[in-house]
Amino acid sequence: MIRSVVRGTGAALPRRIMKNADFEGMVETSDEWIAQRTGIRQRHIAADDETTASLGEAAARAALADAGLTPDDIDLIVLATSTPNNTFPATAVEIQNRLGMHHGFAFDMQAVCSGFVYAVTTADLYIRGGLAKRVLVIGSETFSRILDWSDRSTCVLFGDGAGALVLEAGEGAGTIADRGVLAASLRSDGVHKDKLFVDGGPSTTGTVGHLRMEGREVFKHAVGMITDVIEATFSAAGISAADLDWFVPHQANKRIIDASAKKLGIAEQKVVVTVDLHGNTSAASVPLALSVAVADGRIKKGDLVLLEAMGGGFTWGAVLVRW
Ligand code: UT7
Repeated sequence: MIRSVVRGTGAALPRRIMKNADFEGMVETSDEWIAQRTGIRQRHIAADDETTASLGEAAARAALADAGLTPDDIDLIVLATSTPNNTFPATAVEIQNRLGMHHGFAFDMQAVCSGFVYAVTTADLYIRGGLAKRVLVIGSETFSRILDWSDRSTCVLFGDGAGALVLEAGEGAGTIADRGVLAASLRSDGVHKDKLFVDGGPSTTGTVGHLRMEGREVFKHAVGMITDVIEATFSAAGISAADLDWFVPHQANKRIIDASAKKLGIAEQKVVVTVDLHGNTSAASVPLALSVAVADGRIKKGDLVLLEAMGGGFTWGAVLVRW
């Protein structure tokens, strides 16, 4: 059977690093509060010339270089983002043009922090359905542009950045030993809309709006939703937590990551944590964490890797990949 195999990874971060202490003169907060409650120590913030498209392009180029491929080799670009350069056209098409790619097709996927997990699942279906052989899957965000910088309960949590994967069609035997995307489980439930949303949009206010979040409410649901969808993925694949080599969760809060891993029985040393370095970069958080763990040699060919995310909507999901 056809499997969607990871061929390369890449990442891009804005030049400017903002430390927790840099917020202390702006809103009533402290390095200690942010670090203790979230695990975040710093985040990258995009300059005016750094956009979702430019960061996404840079991450895509890095992933292509890692794969030893050029844009000519790619059939499809799926970009997960909630902070597009423009309302339309899709920022994926802008990235396609920036890459000098004038064949194939590209589109955006909007599932907020779960965007990358949705995008990998979608790309896998295009590959297995025979519509694409090589897909660039990108998560790129500039959440700094939609933050209310006077709201301490949200502005300290998010950061900007991009990560990318190249997925390529390969042959598999149809077993859990195959390389590639092995199983996935996706969920959403709009009843939770008001707990995490942006208070603007083209069809309502005609403005871009700002991110609004009832953090405690999101936290309350997060661990249960994450662990449910992971257990569904384990059961679809016929594996258990002990079979995993790496757990690469959405990087929103270290306490949510720790509680989810503990509930699932995933050993601490198998958990990839980058929330301290990047903050919550929404759809970019999982591919950024992946690229860190691949670059430092933790994730290697043949490893069984579980990706997970949960965010606005709510949306949530998990994907199991043999690297
Ligand atoms: O990526 C999408 C998914 N998003 C998430 O997963 C986020 C989920 N939520 C969270 O990570 C946490 O709920 C937060 C980090 C947002 C907040 O942590 P918490 O432990 O749930 O704190 P809290 O909201 O219960 O607030 C505790 C106190 C409050 O003061 P009072 O009411 O106890 O006097 C807040 O006003 O902390 C206060 N507070 C702050 N204090 C200092 C809120 N933000 C800050 C701040 N600095 N930045």
